[in-house]
Formats: sequence, structure tokens, C-alpha cells
Amino acid sequence: MEMFRITSCSTRKSEKYVWNQAFEAWTDATAKKEYQYIEEETGRRYKKVPIHAPGTRNGATGQPWRGMLPPPGKHWQYTPETLDEMDARGEIYWSPTGNPRRKVYFDNSKGIPVQDIWLDFKDAHNQNIKITGYPTEKNSEMLRRIILASSNKDDLVLDAFSGSGTTISIAEELGRQWIAIDNSPLAIETTIHRLARGTEAMGDFVKSDETQMTQKFLLDTDRVLRSGIDVYFETAPDLQHIPEDFISEWQSKLIFQANLW
Ligand SMILES: C[S@@+](CC[C@H](N)C(=O)[O-])C[C@H]1O[C@@H](n2cnc3c(N)ncnc32)[C@H](O)[C@@H]1O
Repeated sequence: MEMFRITSCSTRKSEKYVWNQAFEAWTDATAKKEYQYIEEETGRRYKKVPIHAPGTRNGATGQPWRGMLPPPGKHWQYTPETLDEMDARGEIYWSPTGNPRRKVYFDNSKGIPVQDIWLDFKDAHNQNIKITGYPTEKNSEMLRRIILASSNKDDLVLDAFSGSGTTISIAEELGRQWIAIDNSPLAIETTIHRLARGTEAMGDFVKSDETQMTQKFLLDTDRVLRSGIDVYFETAPDLQHIPEDFISEWQSKLIFQANLW
């Protein structure tokens, strides 16, 4: 697997994309609140949902079922034939006034679909989890959720701003292929270190000279870091030379950022 290859590409929206819905686990309290009923015959917990949906239809789902038309402006979610089958399986709840509703069973639920506000991941530096210490390191569990949601096994994950290497180390763990890019030698070191040694701390990013020495040693690395991971550097002579003072300016910025925590 090549790392740190810089290449040019154009971006275009794709019709083909991967989306694996993420779910959060139910707690006892949320499950009981959402699924309030217990089926007498089976002991299964369930909730009741309507069997009609907005909009009128001319086909079978707009026809009467058991002598009942769907409410005005609505249609049945299933054909009368399917509703008969569901009823025969005991999946329809009939209210005392003869109103049918569908039973949705808790034991068929994959969990609570994750919404677009995530409150369960804190900044990696602000919680007691193992981290490399790279100043911008992200929460690995959050990245795991993102990678699982948007790729499948063997897909290619690109991190164009690798930093601590957390994204691609999780991608590797999840059986994805990956390409990592970063223009900072410090980040490249950290990424390699992360792949080779997991979250073993690299030392003090801000003060320790030892860290710098370790980095120098690692930069010379051209070897198999771990079974199945080949890492090598591809030099790109066509790339613009990055002056030393630019690199040290970048490192100062990172040090400044680190001092804010
Ligand atoms: C916010 S950090 C990345 C954080 C990363 N997700 C992590 O978990 O550590 C941004 C990274 O982008 C890199 N970077 C900034 N400008 C870049 C550029 N033009 N090309 C490549 N890398 C760049 C920086 O060196 C830095 O490591």
C-alpha cells in the first residue's frame, strides 16, 4: 500500500455511493418508552404504527380492506392481500373501535438510527482514551462510525490530511484499503508510528527532543511495519520544494495549538 502519494484528481458528485445507516443501542428506558406494549401470546415487546400513508392511490392500496377504505387523502401501506397475511400472523393490532394498526416488534429493531447531531464523542484530547498525542488527533470511535457508514470492506479510504493517522489506522482495522497524505513531516511520522505501534504515546510533541529523534529514525523507514502493511515513501520530484522555514513555521503553529489545551 502506498502512502503519502500526492496526485491530482477532479471531484464530481457520484450517483453511486455507500451509506450504511448507523444505529445506537437502545437503553432499557428508551426501549420501554418507544415500545410500550407486550404481546400476550408471545411476550414480545412492540409499538403500534399506522398502516396508511399520505396520498391517494388508484391501485390495490387505494381499495377497501375488510370493508374499510383508507382515511381520506391516504392509502394503505400494503395491499389488502398482504394485510390479510400480516393479520393472519398476528401482526395487526385491532383497537376496541375496530381501528387496525401494525405491530412493530422491538426484537426486530437494529437500534436507534443515528441522527445528524452526535453528542456521544468527545474530543480525543478531552477524554481518558489512548491517543498518540498529535495536537489535532480525532476521536477514533467517531471515525469508526464514519468509515463504517460510508464504506464497505476493501473499499478505498482517502485521508488527504492524515495528521495523527487515526483515520487510516481505523480504516486498516476495518479491512479498508487506504491512502494517507500530509505535507507535514511530523504528521507523516505520527501516521507511521500509529500504524506500527498503535496509540503508544510518541512522547511530548511540544517540548521533548527525544520525540524529534524518534521521528528522524522513523522517517528513514522503508519496511513492513506490521503483517500486511507495506509502507514506503514515494518521492515526488515534480512537487514544489517545501522550504525548511515553512516546515518550522508549521510546527510552531502545531505547538501553539497544542499549548491551547
Ligand atoms: C486538522 S489536521 C488533521 C487531523 C487528523 N484528522 C487527525 O486525526 O489528526 C490537518 C492536517 O492537514 C495537514 N495539511 C495542511 N495543509 C496541507 C496541505 N496543503 N497538504 C497536505 N496536508 C496538509 C497538516 O499537516 C495537518 O496534519
